[in-house]
Order: sequence, then C-alpha cells, then structure tokens
Amino acid sequence: MNALSPAQMYGPNDAATIVRAAQDGSRVAGLTHNFYRYPARFSPIFVRSVIEAYTKPGDWVIDPFSGGGTTLVEAVALGRNALGIDISSLASFVSEAKTLQLSDADFSAFGRWRMRLPDAINMHAPGWRFDSYADAGYYRNLEGVEFWRLRKAIEQCIASVERVRCNGAHILARCVVLKTAQWALDSRKTRPSVAQFKAELIKQAKVMFEGALELRETIQSLNLPMAPRAISINRTTAGAETEASVQDVCPPKLILTSPPYPGIHVLYHRWQVDGRKEAPAPFWIAGKLDGAGLSHYTMGDRKNPGLNSYFKNLEASFRSIARMAGPKTMIVQMVAFSEADRQLPRYLQVMQECGLEEEVNWGIDDGDGRLWRDVPNRKWHAHQKSHAPGAREVVLLHRKASA
Ligand SMILES: C[S@@+](CC[C@H](N)C(=O)[O-])C[C@H]1O[C@@H](n2cnc3c(N)ncnc32)[C@H](O)[C@@H]1O
Repeated sequence: MNALSPAQMYGPNDAATIVRAAQDGSRVAGLTHNFYRYPARFSPIFVRSVIEAYTKPGDWVIDPFSGGGTTLVEAVALGRNALGIDISSLASFVSEAKTLQLSDADFSAFGRWRMRLPDAINMHAPGWRFDSYADAGYYRNLEGVEFWRLRKAIEQCIASVERVRCNGAHILARCVVLKTAQWALDSRKTRPSVAQFKAELIKQAKVMFEGALELRETIQSLNLPMAPRAISINRTTAGAETEASVQDVCPPKLILTSPPYPGIHVLYHRWQVDGRKEAPAPFWIAGKLDGAGLSHYTMGDRKNPGLNSYFKNLEASFRSIARMAGPKTMIVQMVAFSEADRQLPRYLQVMQECGLEEEVNWGIDDGDGRLWRDVPNRKWHAHQKSHAPGAREVVLLHRKASA
C-alpha cells in the first residue's frame, strides 16, 4: 500500500489530485487488492482519490458494477461504508473476501488451517472429486489427463477448506485456494508442478493473512465510533433500488463505478487454460454457481456490432442508479471504449435519458476537457478488429438533474 494518500502525493486540490491519480500507472497493490486478479480492475490510487474528494468517514459509497471490489476495499480502509452490486457470483465472492474484517477467532482458525496446509496436498492420498460441479460442466477444459495432478491438488485444498468452521476464516481460506489456482492455471504458457503449486499456496496463505490483518489494523487506526460496513450483493443493477438493503443506504454520497465497456469483451467469468480454452473453474473453486454466458457479464451481444443490447442494458442499469442517487450524490465512472468517437456520444445520451447531467470541471484545457487516461497492460478484445481496443479510458462525472 502507498504510505502517502493521493492528496499527499499530488496536492490538496481535489480535481488536480484525481487527474494525477487517474493517470498513475502503478501496479495494483496493497491491502487485500491482490486476493484475486479480477479483469479490468480499477486503480486503487484513483479510487482512493475520488472517495477522499467526495466523501467523509461514515458516508456510504455504492459501486453498482463492483467486480473485484476495489471500491469496497478502499472505502472501508478510509472508514466509509460500501455497498457493491455485481451480476457475477464470483465477483461478489471476491469482494466479500477482500473486505472481511476478521475477528481474533477467525485469525486463529485461519492460522490452524495454514499449519495443516503442507499435508493437505498428497498425490498418493484419495482425491475429492466434486461431482455436482463436475456433472454441471464446471470442470470443462480441465478434465484432461494433463491436468489431473493440479486438479487433484485443488480438490484436496477445497476439501481442507470445507473443514474450516469459522465463517470469515473459511472465506479467506477458499480465496487463498482460488488465488493460487488462478496463478497455476489462468493465461499461463507452462503448467506448474504440484510442488510449485504447494509452495505458492503456502506463500499466498501468508500474504493474504497479512493483507487481511493490514486491512483490520488500517480500519482500527481510524478510531471510528463504528466499524465501516461492506455489503456485496449478487444481482443485476437494473431494479436493485427496490431491494431493502440498497434502500437502507440510499442516497449515498458517492456512486463510483466502471460498467462493462461498449464493444470490448472482457473475460470476467472464465480462466484461459491451455492456450485460449475457457474454463469455468473459478466458480467451482469459489463454491458459487455461474450458468451464464459472456454476454450476461458484458451487457452485450458479441454478434451485434451495433451494440443495441449493450445500450439497452446500460440504460436499464442507469435508470436504477439514478433512482439510488440523491441531488447531492456524485456519480463517477471510468469507462473504456473500442471506438470512443462513435460510442461516447451515445453513452452520454443514455446518461441524459436516465436523468443524469454531466459535469466537466477538471480544469483540462485540451481535447474535450474530459479526463482521459491510457490503459496499462490490458488484455481486451474489441468487436472491431481495426481499432486498438480499449486503449483509452475516460472518467465521467454526473449528478442527478434537478426535477
Ligand atoms: C469493469 S468490471 C468492474 C471492475 C471493478 N471496477 C474492479 O475494480 O474490479 C464490470 C463488472 O460489471 C459486472 N456486470 C455486468 N453487467 C452487470 C449488470 N447488469 N448488473 C451488475 N453488474 C454487472 C460484471 O460482472 C463486471 O464484474
């Protein structure tokens, strides 16, 4: 974690601080952010600068497309309460794991699980096939003989997690297995050996124990009258304003989010194994159900280059987001486009139709006055092959238009 806050790094002026933080290309690090490499993650430095600029401790922040939970982690670390909504059960699991405020009993139970880890993986001991997941297709592309050792190691790890009874410790332990399996399987040229997998598992258990402890100590050091809350809801954002848990925290001070991007498909819900074969394993390892295709998570329809489904879904979500907002709620989004010239005007039109008014007050004189940033190291796919996909992102500010 950065020892300095964005305001200390870049100066006290809110707009200038956010501009500098948005352009910061540092790798995602600190607290619990690396408990899982969620695709298209926010930069925590940018998130922190926005939360500091628009909220105070005790305020609520909502992220209606919360993904890997970057907004939630930064919010609670700054003493704000946070509510995240995501259509993916994997995203909600990861957000929950990253925002756990573990009790002493959880840390002890997790410590005992860590001590048992060296014996948890044993190629000569019986395996633990999870039949309900296997029968439902969650082992797809990992069924081959070339994967049997890693598969067995992962199954034995999950079996050991299932014996952890303390809820917080159980979630953290499961996330350790998820993170290690992602390291072992996702987008790799070579498969690690079982010995390497075991070493990585033990390393991750230590790193994630320390990350969870750092989050707890960071929150405790704020000396707040009440510990901040983090809530992760697994559902579509469209219609979420009718849920009691959402109504309870509305209107929030800040809505901070990055929705799925138009024209760019990001594999939020699969790992790529053996070249580019898509594996649904993360759901099985997280103990969640998927059952949905790519367009479910990207609001899109890969076969429709006109992006009609995308904009229809976007509108349904933002109508709900506008209902969650109050007159003082600031809505901050970071969005990437495959063809900004064509897509940004349509995107802004949807915002307007949902009753949101744009503010452009960054003090940037060149271009369109908006805050753009180059995207570092992203593995995205655009529908239109001729364009560099998602090479640039824009930060948009909106408020609810007065009636
Ligand atoms: C760009 S990612 C968000 C990444 C996040 N900012 C982070 O730091 O990890 C967009 C997220 O929107 C979610 N999503 C897509 N359609 C949705 C919908 N209709 N309602 C809620 N979430 C949705 C996807 O599952 C994905 O996790």
